[in-house]
Amino acid sequence: MKLIVGNFKMNLEYGEVIDYIDYFKEKAYSNVIFAPSYLYLSKFHDAKLTIASQDVSKFDKGAYTGDVGAFQLKSMGVEYSIVGHSERRNNYQEDSDINSKIFRLQEQGIIPIICIGETKEEKDNGLCLSVLKKEIKDALKNIDNDQVKNIIFAYEPIWAIGTGLIPQNSEIEEVISFIKKYVYDKYLFHVKVLYGGSVNNQNIGVLELIPNIDGYLVGGCSINQEKFDSLIQKVK
Ligand code: PGA
Repeated sequence: MKLIVGNFKMNLEYGEVIDYIDYFKEKAYSNVIFAPSYLYLSKFHDAKLTIASQDVSKFDKGAYTGDVGAFQLKSMGVEYSIVGHSERRNNYQEDSDINSKIFRLQEQGIIPIICIGETKEEKDNGLCLSVLKKEIKDALKNIDNDQVKNIIFAYEPIWAIGTGLIPQNSEIEEVISFIKKYVYDKYLFHVKVLYGGSVNNQNIGVLELIPNIDGYLVGGCSINQEKFDSLIQKVK
């Protein structure tokens, strides 16, 4: 069954979150993961919904004001964590922190969902695969081979995020095959690869024709419960 991760980003106030949870709590979708802001995670967990954080501190614990540690996420029932989202890479220059964040998550048994993707300029210059290779290599530096099996990648072309633009199915298929082969050749484990970037309940049918996709990371469409539900129901 394909995984569907809803990344709410910095959206929804408390009352909206309560309505949202009410909508989904009886549905019992075992393949759907919700990534609200940190402060709402426990509400989702209490409703027995599977949760991911949108980020994690690169530090272990202690005097890091504003950070949330992997051990704290673990203690709240968080099972997955998005790391290396392009919005964090760009807004906070986090590229070099991603590897430490993955270590912190793995120490706690939380599954990292590592976002990788190229800019439009890199794509136009034929650099997509080399950019992805570097992002994978940097993220997995010094990670034990047998830990790699507990990692999920999300291929998110930066130019497709929030823009309504999506690569051709053949392009997504090629990139996903590349990521899977690269990781398998280097670490000898098969990884799941999700696609993210402007996925919605209208275009999901076309994306579903891609044979090697393991699921979707959904931003904008996930913050509306009806639209997200309609997307979920179209995923096989
Ligand atoms: P989007 O965001 O679906 O709004 O394009 C995807 C993401 O950033 O994970």
